[in-house]
Amino acid sequence: MLLLLRRCRRLTAGLSPAQAQRARPAASPAPSWCGVGGGSRSSSGGGEDRQTAQDPRWRPALAGLLVGTGAVLAYGLHHHKAERPLAPMEPALPVFSQAEVSKHGSLEAGVWVTFRGGVYDITDFVAMHPGGDKILLAAGGALEPFWALYAVHSQDHVLDILSEYKVGELDPEDQARQRAVEPSDPYSGDPQRHPVLRVNSAKPFNGEPPPELLGDSYITPSAIFFKRNHLPVPRVDPASYRLRVEGLPRPLSLSLADLKSRFPKHTVTATLQCAGNRRSEMNAVKQVKGLNWGIAAISNATWSGALLRDVLREGGWGPEAAAAAAAAAGRGARHVQFEGLDADASGTTYGASIPLNKALSEEGDVLLAYQMNGEDLPADHGYPLRVVVPGTVGARNVKWLGKVIVSREESASHWQQNDYKGFSPGTDWDTVDFKSAPAIQELPVQSAITQPADGAVLERDADGEVTVRGYAWSGGGREVVRVDVSLDGGKTWQVARLREGEEQGEEQGEAPPPPPLPGRAWAWKLWEVVAPLPPGEQQVEIVCKAVDNSYNMQPDSVAPIWNLRGVLSNAWHRVRVTVRED
Ligand code: MTE
Repeated sequence: MLLLLRRCRRLTAGLSPAQAQRARPAASPAPSWCGVGGGSRSSSGGGEDRQTAQDPRWRPALAGLLVGTGAVLAYGLHHHKAERPLAPMEPALPVFSQAEVSKHGSLEAGVWVTFRGGVYDITDFVAMHPGGDKILLAAGGALEPFWALYAVHSQDHVLDILSEYKVGELDPEDQARQRAVEPSDPYSGDPQRHPVLRVNSAKPFNGEPPPELLGDSYITPSAIFFKRNHLPVPRVDPASYRLRVEGLPRPLSLSLADLKSRFPKHTVTATLQCAGNRRSEMNAVKQVKGLNWGIAAISNATWSGALLRDVLREGGWGPEAAAAAAAAAGRGARHVQFEGLDADASGTTYGASIPLNKALSEEGDVLLAYQMNGEDLPADHGYPLRVVVPGTVGARNVKWLGKVIVSREESASHWQQNDYKGFSPGTDWDTVDFKSAPAIQELPVQSAITQPADGAVLERDADGEVTVRGYAWSGGGREVVRVDVSLDGGKTWQVARLREGEEQGEEQGEAPPPPPLPGRAWAWKLWEVVAPLPPGEQQVEIVCKAVDNSYNMQPDSVAPIWNLRGVLSNAWHRVRVTVRED
C-alpha cells in the first residue's frame, strides 16, 4: 500500500479523493491478506480480521492502523505485484541519528519510524489514512514493539512494501542501543496450549481441535475447545478484578465475589461457533480474507455464572428505567455493549454488542460466566469472566469482560462495525460498504462430518459399511431436528441418528442431557450413520446437511454464499474418501 500510495500520489496529484478513486485501475481483484494463503495452516499472524483500507469507505476499518497496516500493505502488494517495474538500484541513503528521527513524531513534523536499522518516512501514508492515528504512537521511534503485537506484519511482502518508504539508515550506535532494549513479546504471557490443537495463528493464538476428537465428545474438554483470540491474552488479577456496568439507573462495580454471591448461579450448555468456521471451503472457491479455519472453529461446553439479566436488574434496569430512558433520549436503549480487557498497542480493547432484548429475555440465557465445564474459565476462554450469548456468533461472546454498557448504540468497535458481517458473492473489496450490512448475531443452521476425514482411505470390510459422524447446530436457539447424509455426493439420502445421552461420547454412564426447551436449543447435536458403502465405488463423496425446527436448511454449495470475509460458511459438508477392497 505504501508503494501504491506513492504511485497514486504521482498519478493522482491534485485529484479529489473521489477522482483519485476513479483513477485506480478498473478491475481490481480482491486484496490478498497477509498470512492467509489458501490451505496454509501455518502461523498467519494477528489482526486478520481487520479490513483493508484504500478509500473512505474502508477507513473505519482502520480502528488500529498498526493492525490495519498489514491489510493496507497487503492490498498494496496486490497492486505492487501487478504493476511495479523492477526497482532500480538504490543510491546510498543518508544516516540519521535517533535524535533526528525523534524530531519526526507528528504529522506536522513528519512521521518517521525505524525498523531493523532503516529509517522510514511514512508521513503521506498516515496523512492519507484518517483513522490511522495509532501508528503515530510509533512515530519518531521503532516499529518493532508494535509489530511484535501484530506478528502478521513481519512478512517479506509487507517489509518489501515498507521499504519503498525508506529514507535512510539509523546510526549504527543507535541501532546497537535499540537492540539492547529488546521489545518485549506481548504474547509472552499467553497460556500454554494443548499440542493437539491445529494452530491457525500463533500470535494471537487461534487454534482448532482435530475434527475426529471434536465429534467424539458432546462436551468439548476446555483444553481442546477452539480458541479464537485477536490480541494477547490479558492477565487479570481476580482479587482486584471489577466488572463495571454502565448505562443503568445505578451503575455497578462488581467484584468476582459479588458476581458469585449476589446472583443465582445459572448453568447453560451452549455451543460457540466462530463466524469464520469452515472458511477454508470458501477459500477453495476464491480467496477470502481471514484465518483459514477448517470445520472445528466450533465447540460445546457448559458455562456457569450470573445471568446478565439479573445483573442489569440489580442496576435498576426494568420497565420503568426503560421507559425513562426512552423518554429522555427520544428512543430507548437497544443494545448491550461489552468491552474486553485485551487491548492493542494503543489501548483499544476488543468489543462487541448484542440486542438488549436478548440480554433481558428470560429465555435468552445470556451469562456472565465465570466457569466453563465446571471449573474456573481457562485463561484463553476469558478468565475471570466472559459473556456467553447462547445461539449467537462467537464474536459477541466477549472474553476477559471489563465493562458492560446499556446503550442506544451498538458497540463502535471494529469487530461490530467493520467485520463479522455478510455480503453478496458479488461484493468485493472495492465495492464493500460495511455500513450496509447488519452485524452477525444469530448464526444459520450448520453441520459437518467429523469422521471419516476428508481424503481418508477406508478398507471395505465384510460388512461393507462405513460409520459417518458429525455435529449439527443452529443459531438463535433453533433446534436441529434432522441430519441427512448421502454417500453418493447428494443423489440419495438417509437420515442420521441424533446421538442421545450416553451415546454422546465421554458422558458414558452419566445422565443424558435433558431435551432442549423450545427456542432454547443452545447446544449442538452429535449424529451418526452406519451405512453400506456404494458397491464397486472406489471414490465416494459423503455429504451431510442439517435441518432446524424452522425448517432452515443448509445451501448445497459454497459459491453462491461466498463472501469476501469468508463468514457464514454453512454449505452441505462434503468429504471425499477412497475405498480399498479387502
Ligand atoms: N473476546 C475478547 N475479549 N477478545 C477476543 O479476541 N474473540 C471473539 C470472542 N470473544 C474475542 C472475544 C471471537 S471472534 C470468538 S469466535 C470467540 O470469542 C471465541 O471464543 P473461545 O476462544 O472461547 O472459543
